Amino acid sequence: MKNKNILITGGLGFIGSHIADELIDNNKITIVDNLSTGALKNLKNPEHENLKIVIEDLSNANLDELLKDIDYIFHLAAMASVPLSVDDPVGCTENNVNATIKLLESAVKNDVKKIIFSSSSAVYGENLNMPLKESELPMPTSPYAASKASCELYLQSFYDSYGLNYTALRYFNVFGPKQDKNSQYAAVIPNFISALLEGRQPVIYGDGEQTRDFIFVKDIVQANIKACESDYNGIVNVASGKKLSVNRLYEIIKETLGSDVEAEYLPERAGDIKHSLADVSNLEKINFKSDSDNFEEQLKETINWFKTVL
Ligand SMILES: NC(=O)c1ccc[n+]([C@@H]2O[C@H](COP(=O)([O-])OP(=O)(O)OC[C@H]3O[C@@H](n4cnc5c(N)ncnc54)[C@H](O)[C@@H]3O)[C@@H](O)[C@H]2O)c1
Repeated sequence: MKNKNILITGGLGFIGSHIADELIDNNKITIVDNLSTGALKNLKNPEHENLKIVIEDLSNANLDELLKDIDYIFHLAAMASVPLSVDDPVGCTENNVNATIKLLESAVKNDVKKIIFSSSSAVYGENLNMPLKESELPMPTSPYAASKASCELYLQSFYDSYGLNYTALRYFNVFGPKQDKNSQYAAVIPNFISALLEGRQPVIYGDGEQTRDFIFVKDIVQANIKACESDYNGIVNVASGKKLSVNRLYEIIKETLGSDVEAEYLPERAGDIKHSLADVSNLEKINFKSDSDNFEEQLKETINWFKTVL
Protein backbone atom coordinates (compact mmCIF):
# COMPACT_ATOMS: atom_id res chain seq x y z
CA MET A 1 0.00 0.00 0.00
CA LYS A 2 1.55 3.28 -1.13
CA ASN A 3 0.76 7.00 -1.38
CA LYS A 4 -2.55 6.76 0.42
CA ASN A 5 -4.07 9.00 3.08
CA ILE A 6 -4.99 6.78 5.98
CA LEU A 7 -6.81 7.38 9.27
CA ILE A 8 -6.10 4.98 12.11
CA THR A 9 -8.43 5.33 15.08
CA GLY A 10 -6.81 3.90 18.20
CA GLY A 11 -3.46 4.10 16.41
CA LEU A 12 -1.52 4.46 19.67
CA GLY A 13 -2.74 1.12 21.02
CA PHE A 14 -1.25 -2.35 20.80
CA ILE A 15 -2.51 -3.31 17.33
CA GLY A 16 -3.07 0.16 15.84
CA SER A 17 0.53 1.21 16.48
CA HIS A 18 1.78 -1.88 14.60
CA ILE A 19 -0.40 -0.88 11.62
CA ALA A 20 0.92 2.69 11.77
CA ASP A 21 4.56 1.54 11.97
CA GLU A 22 4.07 -0.72 8.96
CA LEU A 23 2.46 1.91 6.72
CA ILE A 24 4.15 5.14 7.79
CA ASP A 25 7.09 5.20 5.36
CA ASN A 26 4.94 5.01 2.21
CA ASN A 27 1.67 6.68 3.20
CA LYS A 28 0.35 9.72 5.05
CA ILE A 29 -1.10 8.61 8.37
CA THR A 30 -3.46 10.43 10.72
CA ILE A 31 -3.99 8.87 14.14
CA VAL A 32 -6.84 9.80 16.44
CA ASP A 33 -6.49 8.42 19.95
CA ASN A 34 -7.70 9.48 23.40
CA LEU A 35 -4.76 7.82 25.24
CA SER A 36 -7.17 5.79 27.39
CA THR A 37 -5.01 2.70 26.92
CA GLY A 38 -2.67 3.80 24.13
CA ALA A 39 0.64 5.67 24.38
CA LEU A 40 2.94 7.63 22.06
CA LYS A 41 5.80 5.36 23.00
CA ASN A 42 4.09 2.52 21.14
CA LEU A 43 5.08 4.15 17.85
CA LYS A 44 8.52 3.55 16.38
CA ASN A 45 8.78 7.21 15.39
CA PRO A 46 6.10 9.57 16.75
CA GLU A 47 7.92 12.45 14.99
CA HIS A 48 7.72 10.89 11.50
CA GLU A 49 7.10 13.50 8.80
CA ASN A 50 4.22 11.43 7.35
CA LEU A 51 2.40 11.34 10.67
CA LYS A 52 -0.26 13.56 12.21
CA ILE A 53 -1.45 12.66 15.70
CA VAL A 54 -4.72 14.00 17.08
CA ILE A 55 -5.14 13.35 20.79
CA GLU A 56 -8.88 13.39 21.19
CA ASP A 57 -11.82 11.15 21.90
CA LEU A 58 -13.32 9.89 18.66
CA SER A 59 -16.77 10.97 19.90
CA ASN A 60 -15.64 14.61 20.17
CA ALA A 61 -13.28 14.81 17.23
CA ASN A 62 -14.09 17.02 14.26
CA LEU A 63 -14.49 14.06 11.95
CA ASP A 64 -15.44 15.96 8.83
CA GLU A 65 -12.18 17.88 9.15
CA LEU A 66 -10.13 14.76 9.96
CA LEU A 67 -11.57 12.73 7.10
CA LYS A 68 -10.96 15.30 4.37
CA ASP A 69 -8.90 13.53 1.68
CA ILE A 70 -8.75 10.27 3.64
CA ASP A 71 -8.73 7.19 1.37
CA TYR A 72 -8.94 4.42 3.97
CA ILE A 73 -9.83 4.07 7.64
CA PHE A 74 -8.54 1.41 10.02
CA HIS A 75 -10.98 1.66 12.91
CA LEU A 76 -9.55 0.20 16.10
CA ALA A 77 -10.48 2.74 18.80
CA ALA A 78 -12.69 1.02 21.34
CA MET A 79 -13.17 0.13 24.95
CA ALA A 80 -11.40 -3.17 24.33
CA SER A 81 -12.03 -4.89 27.65
CA VAL A 82 -14.88 -7.29 28.41
CA PRO A 83 -14.85 -6.71 32.21
CA LEU A 84 -14.81 -2.90 31.78
CA SER A 85 -17.78 -3.17 29.43
CA VAL A 86 -19.66 -5.21 32.05
CA ASP A 87 -18.96 -2.47 34.63
CA ASP A 88 -19.96 0.34 32.27
CA PRO A 89 -22.27 -0.82 29.46
CA VAL A 90 -23.40 2.72 28.61
CA GLY A 91 -19.81 3.95 28.36
CA CYS A 92 -19.01 0.96 26.18
CA THR A 93 -21.89 1.76 23.84
CA GLU A 94 -20.90 5.45 23.63
CA ASN A 95 -17.30 4.56 22.94
CA ASN A 96 -17.71 1.58 20.66
CA VAL A 97 -21.05 1.96 18.89
CA ASN A 98 -22.09 5.64 18.86
CA ALA A 99 -18.59 6.85 17.98
CA THR A 100 -18.47 4.27 15.18
CA ILE A 101 -21.76 5.46 13.69
CA LYS A 102 -20.48 9.07 13.69
CA LEU A 103 -17.32 7.86 11.96
CA LEU A 104 -19.32 5.96 9.32
CA GLU A 105 -21.53 8.96 8.66
CA SER A 106 -18.52 11.20 8.13
CA ALA A 107 -16.82 8.53 6.01
CA VAL A 108 -19.79 8.59 3.63
CA LYS A 109 -19.74 12.42 3.45
CA ASN A 110 -16.03 12.38 2.67
CA ASP A 111 -16.12 9.61 0.06
CA VAL A 112 -13.80 7.30 2.00
CA LYS A 113 -12.98 4.30 -0.20
CA LYS A 114 -13.15 1.64 2.50
CA ILE A 115 -13.21 1.15 6.28
CA ILE A 116 -11.59 -1.83 7.98
CA PHE A 117 -13.16 -2.51 11.35
CA SER A 118 -11.51 -4.38 14.23
CA SER A 119 -14.15 -6.78 15.44
CA SER A 120 -13.69 -9.71 17.77
CA SER A 121 -14.29 -13.42 18.19
CA ALA A 122 -16.19 -12.33 21.32
CA VAL A 123 -19.27 -11.97 19.09
CA TYR A 124 -19.47 -15.81 18.99
CA GLY A 125 -19.92 -15.90 22.77
CA GLU A 126 -20.52 -19.43 23.98
CA ASN A 127 -21.26 -20.84 20.56
CA LEU A 128 -19.69 -24.31 20.54
CA ASN A 129 -19.94 -25.00 16.81
CA MET A 130 -16.19 -25.27 16.23
CA PRO A 131 -14.58 -24.24 13.99
CA LEU A 132 -16.58 -21.03 14.16
CA LYS A 133 -17.82 -19.67 10.85
CA GLU A 134 -18.73 -16.06 10.17
CA SER A 135 -22.21 -17.21 9.12
CA GLU A 136 -23.07 -18.30 12.69
CA LEU A 137 -25.54 -16.03 14.48
CA PRO A 138 -23.78 -13.73 16.98
CA MET A 139 -24.27 -14.81 20.60
CA PRO A 140 -22.75 -11.92 22.58
CA THR A 141 -22.39 -12.55 26.30
CA SER A 142 -21.02 -9.11 27.25
CA PRO A 143 -21.71 -5.48 26.34
CA TYR A 144 -18.30 -5.49 24.62
CA ALA A 145 -19.31 -8.39 22.37
CA ALA A 146 -22.71 -6.81 21.72
CA SER A 147 -20.99 -3.55 20.74
CA LYS A 148 -18.79 -5.35 18.20
CA ALA A 149 -21.76 -7.29 16.78
CA SER A 150 -23.80 -4.11 16.45
CA CYS A 151 -20.95 -2.26 14.71
CA GLU A 152 -20.81 -5.11 12.18
CA LEU A 153 -24.53 -4.63 11.54
CA TYR A 154 -24.10 -0.86 11.13
CA LEU A 155 -21.25 -1.47 8.68
CA GLN A 156 -23.49 -3.73 6.63
CA SER A 157 -26.30 -1.16 6.79
CA PHE A 158 -24.00 1.67 5.67
CA TYR A 159 -22.79 -0.50 2.80
CA ASP A 160 -26.39 -1.20 1.75
CA SER A 161 -27.69 2.34 2.33
CA TYR A 162 -24.76 4.47 1.14
CA GLY A 163 -22.32 2.10 -0.59
CA LEU A 164 -19.59 2.54 2.06
CA ASN A 165 -17.18 -0.37 1.53
CA TYR A 166 -16.06 -2.28 4.59
CA THR A 167 -14.48 -5.40 5.95
CA ALA A 168 -15.01 -6.38 9.59
CA LEU A 169 -12.14 -8.50 10.87
CA ARG A 170 -12.97 -10.77 13.78
CA TYR A 171 -9.68 -11.23 15.61
CA PHE A 172 -9.19 -14.29 17.78
CA ASN A 173 -6.43 -14.36 20.44
CA VAL A 174 -3.90 -11.75 19.34
CA PHE A 175 -0.38 -11.72 20.78
CA GLY A 176 2.90 -9.94 20.10
CA PRO A 177 5.24 -7.13 21.09
CA LYS A 178 3.63 -4.10 22.79
CA GLN A 179 0.76 -6.11 24.26
CA ASP A 180 -0.20 -4.79 27.68
CA LYS A 181 1.02 -6.98 30.51
CA ASN A 182 0.01 -4.62 33.30
CA SER A 183 -3.70 -4.60 32.81
CA GLN A 184 -5.67 -6.53 35.36
CA TYR A 185 -7.13 -8.39 32.41
CA ALA A 186 -3.89 -9.05 30.54
CA ALA A 187 -4.07 -11.89 28.03
CA VAL A 188 -2.55 -15.28 28.73
CA ILE A 189 0.67 -14.90 26.69
CA PRO A 190 1.85 -11.60 28.25
CA ASN A 191 0.82 -12.99 31.64
CA PHE A 192 2.95 -16.12 31.31
CA ILE A 193 5.95 -14.32 29.83
CA SER A 194 6.00 -11.48 32.35
CA ALA A 195 5.51 -13.83 35.32
CA LEU A 196 8.46 -16.00 34.28
CA LEU A 197 10.69 -13.03 33.46
CA GLU A 198 9.89 -11.43 36.82
CA GLY A 199 10.42 -14.68 38.73
CA ARG A 200 6.76 -15.17 39.64
CA GLN A 201 4.70 -18.35 39.34
CA PRO A 202 2.15 -18.03 36.50
CA VAL A 203 -1.45 -18.97 37.15
CA ILE A 204 -3.49 -21.34 34.98
CA TYR A 205 -7.23 -21.27 35.58
CA GLY A 206 -8.96 -24.66 35.33
CA ASP A 207 -7.08 -27.75 34.16
CA GLY A 208 -5.22 -25.94 31.38
CA GLU A 209 -6.75 -28.15 28.70
CA GLN A 210 -8.85 -25.25 27.40
CA THR A 211 -7.73 -24.34 23.88
CA ARG A 212 -7.33 -21.04 22.05
CA ASP A 213 -6.62 -19.96 18.50
CA PHE A 214 -3.63 -17.60 18.64
CA ILE A 215 -2.67 -15.11 15.95
CA PHE A 216 0.45 -12.94 15.78
CA VAL A 217 -0.04 -9.18 15.71
CA LYS A 218 1.97 -8.83 12.47
CA ASP A 219 -0.53 -11.18 10.82
CA ILE A 220 -3.30 -8.89 12.04
CA VAL A 221 -1.51 -5.96 10.39
CA GLN A 222 -1.22 -7.80 7.07
CA ALA A 223 -4.85 -8.93 7.25
CA ASN A 224 -5.88 -5.27 7.68
CA ILE A 225 -3.85 -4.21 4.65
CA LYS A 226 -5.09 -7.10 2.50
CA ALA A 227 -8.68 -6.39 3.52
CA CYS A 228 -8.20 -2.78 2.51
CA GLU A 229 -6.87 -3.79 -0.90
CA SER A 230 -9.62 -6.36 -1.52
CA ASP A 231 -13.10 -5.83 -2.93
CA TYR A 232 -14.68 -7.97 -0.23
CA ASN A 233 -17.48 -6.42 1.82
CA GLY A 234 -18.32 -8.53 4.83
CA ILE A 235 -16.94 -10.29 7.89
CA VAL A 236 -13.73 -12.33 8.08
CA ASN A 237 -12.28 -14.33 10.97
CA VAL A 238 -8.62 -13.50 11.49
CA ALA A 239 -7.00 -16.43 13.25
CA SER A 240 -4.59 -19.27 12.67
CA GLY A 241 -7.30 -21.94 12.46
CA LYS A 242 -5.21 -24.05 14.89
CA LYS A 243 -5.97 -24.87 18.48
CA LEU A 244 -3.39 -24.80 21.22
CA SER A 245 -4.05 -25.75 24.84
CA VAL A 246 -3.03 -23.39 27.60
CA ASN A 247 -0.90 -26.21 29.10
CA ARG A 248 0.99 -26.70 25.83
CA LEU A 249 1.39 -22.95 25.42
CA TYR A 250 2.91 -22.77 28.89
CA GLU A 251 5.29 -25.63 28.06
CA ILE A 252 6.51 -23.83 24.92
CA ILE A 253 7.05 -20.54 26.78
CA LYS A 254 8.85 -22.35 29.61
CA GLU A 255 11.13 -24.18 27.16
CA THR A 256 11.86 -20.98 25.24
CA LEU A 257 12.83 -19.19 28.44
CA GLY A 258 14.72 -22.20 29.85
CA SER A 259 12.55 -22.10 32.96
CA ASP A 260 11.47 -25.01 35.17
CA VAL A 261 8.87 -23.08 37.19
CA GLU A 262 5.56 -24.96 37.36
CA ALA A 263 2.33 -23.01 36.97
CA GLU A 264 -0.12 -22.67 39.85
CA TYR A 265 -3.53 -24.15 38.99
CA LEU A 266 -6.55 -22.22 40.31
CA PRO A 267 -10.27 -22.96 39.78
CA GLU A 268 -11.76 -22.12 36.41
CA ARG A 269 -13.02 -18.52 36.15
CA ALA A 270 -16.71 -17.87 35.66
CA GLY A 271 -17.47 -17.08 32.04
CA ASP A 272 -14.25 -18.56 30.63
CA ILE A 273 -14.99 -20.60 27.52
CA LYS A 274 -13.47 -24.06 27.12
CA HIS A 275 -12.49 -23.90 23.47
CA SER A 276 -12.16 -21.33 20.73
CA LEU A 277 -11.25 -22.16 17.15
CA ALA A 278 -11.88 -20.26 13.92
CA ASP A 279 -12.85 -21.45 10.50
CA VAL A 280 -10.36 -19.45 8.45
CA SER A 281 -11.62 -20.21 4.95
CA ASN A 282 -12.95 -16.65 4.50
CA LEU A 283 -9.38 -15.33 4.68
CA GLU A 284 -9.16 -16.27 0.99
CA LYS A 285 -11.70 -13.54 0.27
CA ILE A 286 -9.14 -10.95 1.31
CA ASN A 287 -6.24 -12.91 -0.27
CA PHE A 288 -4.58 -13.48 3.07
CA LYS A 289 -2.92 -16.50 4.64
CA SER A 290 -1.62 -16.28 8.18
CA ASP A 291 1.98 -17.09 9.03
CA SER A 292 0.84 -19.45 11.77
CA ASP A 293 3.45 -22.17 11.01
CA ASN A 294 5.97 -19.86 12.64
CA PHE A 295 4.24 -19.69 16.02
CA GLU A 296 7.38 -20.50 18.00
CA GLU A 297 9.42 -17.84 16.17
CA GLN A 298 6.65 -15.31 16.77
CA LEU A 299 6.62 -16.23 20.43
CA LYS A 300 10.40 -15.70 20.59
CA GLU A 301 10.02 -12.25 19.02
CA THR A 302 7.36 -11.47 21.62
CA ILE A 303 9.51 -12.73 24.50
CA ASN A 304 12.49 -10.71 23.25
CA TRP A 305 10.37 -7.58 23.24
CA PHE A 306 9.15 -8.26 26.80
CA LYS A 307 12.78 -8.66 27.88
CA THR A 308 13.48 -5.11 26.69
CA VAL A 309 10.66 -3.55 28.72
CA LEU A 310 10.69 -5.56 31.96
N1 LIG B 1 -5.99 -7.47 21.32
C1 LIG B 1 -6.85 -8.42 21.03
O1 LIG B 1 -6.63 -9.60 21.34
C2 LIG B 1 -8.12 -8.09 20.29
C3 LIG B 1 -8.98 -9.15 19.94
C4 LIG B 1 -10.16 -8.86 19.27
C5 LIG B 1 -10.46 -7.55 18.92
N2 LIG B 1 -9.63 -6.55 19.27
C6 LIG B 1 -10.02 -5.18 18.89
O2 LIG B 1 -8.93 -4.56 18.22
C7 LIG B 1 -8.90 -3.16 18.52
C8 LIG B 1 -7.53 -2.77 19.05
O3 LIG B 1 -7.27 -3.56 20.21
P1 LIG B 1 -5.92 -3.42 21.03
O4 LIG B 1 -5.65 -4.74 21.65
O5 LIG B 1 -4.88 -2.75 20.21
O6 LIG B 1 -6.43 -2.45 22.19
P2 LIG B 1 -5.76 -1.16 22.82
O7 LIG B 1 -6.56 -0.84 24.04
O8 LIG B 1 -4.29 -1.33 22.94
O9 LIG B 1 -6.03 -0.08 21.68
C9 LIG B 1 -7.19 0.70 21.59
C10 LIG B 1 -6.74 2.13 21.32
O10 LIG B 1 -7.90 2.95 21.13
C11 LIG B 1 -7.79 4.13 21.92
N3 LIG B 1 -9.17 4.52 22.20
C12 LIG B 1 -10.10 3.84 22.92
N4 LIG B 1 -11.28 4.50 22.90
C13 LIG B 1 -11.08 5.62 22.16
C14 LIG B 1 -11.93 6.71 21.76
N5 LIG B 1 -13.18 6.78 22.16
N6 LIG B 1 -11.40 7.69 21.01
C15 LIG B 1 -10.10 7.64 20.61
N7 LIG B 1 -9.26 6.62 20.93
C16 LIG B 1 -9.75 5.64 21.70
C17 LIG B 1 -6.96 3.72 23.11
O11 LIG B 1 -6.29 4.80 23.76
C18 LIG B 1 -5.95 2.75 22.46
O12 LIG B 1 -4.83 3.45 21.95
C19 LIG B 1 -10.03 -2.90 19.50
O13 LIG B 1 -11.15 -2.44 18.79
C20 LIG B 1 -10.31 -4.28 20.08
O14 LIG B 1 -11.64 -4.41 20.51
C21 LIG B 1 -8.46 -6.78 19.94
